[in-house]
Amino acid sequence: MKTQNISQEMKESPLHQFFVEEIKDIYWAEKHLLKALPKMAEAATSTELRKAFEDHLDITQMHVERLEKVFESLDEKPETKTCEALKGLVKEAEEIIDDTEDGTMVRDCGLILAAQKVEHYEIATYGTLRTLAAIMGHKDVQELLQATLDEEHDADKGLTEVAMSFVNEEAKAEF
Ligand SMILES: [Fe+2]
Repeated sequence: MKTQNISQEMKESPLHQFFVEEIKDIYWAEKHLLKALPKMAEAATSTELRKAFEDHLDITQMHVERLEKVFESLDEKPETKTCEALKGLVKEAEEIIDDTEDGTMVRDCGLILAAQKVEHYEIATYGTLRTLAAIMGHKDVQELLQATLDEEHDADKGLTEVAMSFVNEEAKAEF
């Protein structure tokens, strides 16, 4: 991706600087998820949920690469900044794994809850960042963030579908 014409004046604008800091934050969050998702997949009981996490791991790798394109487009070095919110959400997922029995549907319901909190956090973050990119006229960045935002929405819907598949009697018997 080519660097857009980012003037020195633009780089010094407080909104631009705030934006770059928040991109570093979500970049850390996506990288942290790369480590958390395999553990969530391994902890899942149903094959559907395991597959949903495995698929999202590949998509998360793409989100990391897309953010690297965002840094490039903004003429910034890809740097991370610890995202306390996502760190807390992953910790919550780990606690749910510790507090539920292996091989149970309750474990899966807990994992879906934790994962949907993560998706909603990402949807909120990418939604605002996409809009800020539009405000500042960073068209390429806006498009990159929109593509990721759409995929986070799809992931959230996919998790609801997995949860709804538990409505059948066979699954209910396992609760
Ligand atoms: Fe993501």
